[in-house]
Amino acid sequence: MRRQHVIGMFDSGVGGLTVMKEILEQIPDLRIIYFGDTARVPYGNRSKEELIHFGEEIITFLISQGAEAVVIACNTSSANALPELKKNFDIPLIGTIEPGARLAVHKTSGGKIGLIATEGTVRSKAYNSAISRVLAKGVLPENRELSESWQEGEQPIALVKSQACPLFVPLVEAGLSKTPEARGIARTYLTGFAAAGVDALILGCTHYPFLVPVIRDVLGEKIALIDPAKAMVDELRKVLKELDQAQETKTMSIVKETWKLRFFVSGDPELFQSVGNTLLPGHIQEVRQVTWGD
Ligand code: DGL
Repeated sequence: MRRQHVIGMFDSGVGGLTVMKEILEQIPDLRIIYFGDTARVPYGNRSKEELIHFGEEIITFLISQGAEAVVIACNTSSANALPELKKNFDIPLIGTIEPGARLAVHKTSGGKIGLIATEGTVRSKAYNSAISRVLAKGVLPENRELSESWQEGEQPIALVKSQACPLFVPLVEAGLSKTPEARGIARTYLTGFAAAGVDALILGCTHYPFLVPVIRDVLGEKIALIDPAKAMVDELRKVLKELDQAQETKTMSIVKETWKLRFFVSGDPELFQSVGNTLLPGHIQEVRQVTWGD
C-alpha cells in the first residue's frame, strides 16, 4: 500500500492558492500543507536577504509539519531566493520561474513575450534568464513558423516588455479583485502590451490569476495569458515519482491519516479564509495562525 505524499506550499498570502487549485485539479490524491505569510505580505518590495530568511523559516516549519517537498508558490521568492534555498534544504523545492518560462516559450505564437509581476520579480530579471536557458536547450515552440526560423539558428523568441504591478497584490488580498477600482488599475498597467506586439503574457505573480476576468476585460482575447502553475504541476509530478521510488526502497509503517488540506497563516486567519474560499469554495475550512517573530 502506497502512502499519500505530503506536499508543503507557501506564498506571501492567498496568491499561492491559485497554484493549489491547479494541483488539486490535476493531482487530487495529495495531502497539502499551505502557509500564507499574510503578516508580511506583500513580498514584492522585499530584499533578497529578507526573502531568503522568510523562505528558510517557512520551509523549516512545513518540514516540521511533515512536508516531503515544497512548492514555492510565489514568483518573488522563486526569482530571488530559490537558488539559495535549494542549497540549504535537501528536500525537493519547486519554483515558478522555470516552468513559467518554458510554458511561455511553448505558447507564444509570434515570439514576443510580456511579463506582469511584482517589482522584485521584474527587477531580478529571472524570467529573462530562464527564457534564455529554455531557448539554449533547444526547446521548440508549438508554433511551426517559429520552429522553422529557430532551426535556422535565429532566436525569434524574447521577453520584450515587463511591467511591475504593485497595486494588484493588495487588491487581491483585500478581496477586491472584481471591483471597478481593479479594472481601472489594470487598465493603467496593461496598456502598452498590445502596442509592443506581445502575444503571450506571463502572469508572473501567483496573485494575478484572481484578476484574470479584469485582465481579460482590458486586454481582450488576443493575448494568451500564461499561468506558470500549469507547468509547475508537471514538475511536481516528476518529484512525486521520485518520492514514490524512494518510498519503495524503504519499509515504513502506514499511519492512516484523514486530513487532506491544512492551512496556516502568519496574519489574520478569517480574512485568508474568506478571500481564499472565493477561489476554492469550501476547501478552506480551518486556518491556524502561526507566529515566530520577525
Ligand atoms: N504572490 C507572490 C508572487 O507570486 C507575492 C506577491 C507579493 O506578496 O507581493 O510574487
